[in-house]
Formats: sequence, structure tokens, C-alpha cells
Amino acid sequence: MSPIENRGDAITAPPAAATSGVLLVLAHPALERSRANRALAKAAKGLSGVTFRDLYETYPDFAIDIETEQASLLAHDVIALQFPLYWYSTPALLKEWLDLVWLHGFAYGHDGTALVGKRLFVACTTGASAKAYHAQGYNRFTMDDFLRPLEQTAHLCGMVWETPFVVHGAAVKDDEALKAEAERYKARIASLLSATLEV
Ligand SMILES: Cc1cc2nc3c(=O)[nH]c(=O)nc-3n(C[C@H](O)[C@H](O)[C@H](O)COP(=O)(O)O)c2cc1C
Repeated sequence: MSPIENRGDAITAPPAAATSGVLLVLAHPALERSRANRALAKAAKGLSGVTFRDLYETYPDFAIDIETEQASLLAHDVIALQFPLYWYSTPALLKEWLDLVWLHGFAYGHDGTALVGKRLFVACTTGASAKAYHAQGYNRFTMDDFLRPLEQTAHLCGMVWETPFVVHGAAVKDDEALKAEAERYKARIASLLSATLEV
């Protein structure tokens, strides 16, 4: 059954195993040249309760270990996807990871309830300014519009869609501004962590 047809009343089963914390999945193909994502990841990955996964470091050849990735997804309450916006979308390896790991029968479809009730949190940096992401702006659509495929993926999988964290104009932010964004990001991840402790 295709993803589009599959969901109905079936999204009721909670994840079976005990879960905890945030799985922070970073996808940046050239982290050594990154300023924004490096600063954000550095601030968040040290938090207790965060499991950090650098996709391009782990799978430089795109040979994704599906079982390991599915086990990681199962073990966490919050799935955080962090990436620079590339052509209004995710970098290629993050898309590949979704394609190969979020499978029918696991993430969606009959018996595909592994992600039900988990939270999906997207953290994204852009080159263009906030002003560009507007109906009358240079990019003609809002960030919410560009992130809609991920929002619908969360919905299809029975996940809770968290308000995304976006850093616009990443390339022109100075070190001080990036440091402030990194602190804001760390606080947001911390609040997601404390929400998982409350349930
Ligand atoms: C291949 C490629 C595609 C990009 N596409 C976009 C885009 O669609 N919209 C945008 O605002 N910025 C785009 N950018 C700029 C990056 O999003 C920006 O450089 C990045 O978010 C900065 O983060 P970093 O310092 O971690 O690399 C693109 C950059 C590259 C290399």
C-alpha cells in the first residue's frame, strides 16, 4: 500500500520498548566548512539525554546500516533532524536515510507503528534571509511550506510535529550571532528533553 493510502485509524499502538531522550541526526556533507550547523551541533550534542548521529561521518559512502538506524529510532522519544537547507530540501544523505530506514512495516503501513507517538523536530539553517521566505519574497514560499514534506512524513508515521527551529541568513551571521543561535538551540533541545521526562 502506498504511503498516501495507508493511514487511517491504525495509528494507535504506542512504541513497545522503553525509550528515552533525543536522537539528534545531523546531515551536513562538509561539516569542516560549516559555521552554523557546527555551532548548533556543538551546543546541543553535549546535553545529557542526547544521542548524536553525524550521518555523513558515519556513512560517507551512503551505505546506511538500516537495522542500526531503526534500533536508534526505536530507542528515542524525540527524533531531531538537523541540516542546512539545500535546494529547498534536505541534503541527499538525509533523504537517503529516510528512504532506506523509514520503511513500510516499520514507520508506516500495516504494522508500521515504530514511530507512533514520537516527536519529530527539524532544525534547519538557510543561506537566504528570513525576508526571502515569504509569499512576496525572493523564495516565494515560507519555510513552513518548504518543510511540509517532513511535516506530512511525521503525520503519516503518527508522530507529533514540533515547531521547527530555523536559522536564516546563516552565512552572514557573525560569530556572536551564531553563538546566540546555538544557545537558543541548546535551550530548545533541553526543553524537548524535559518534556520527554514529564510523560
Ligand atoms: C548545494 C547547496 C544548496 C543550497 N540551497 C539553499 C537553498 O535552497 N536555500 C537557502 O536559503 N540556502 C541554500 N544554501 C545555503 C545553505 O543553506 C547555507 O550555506 C547553510 O545553511 C549554512 O550553514 P553551514 O554554515 O552549517 O554550512 C545552499 C547551499 C548549498 C551548498
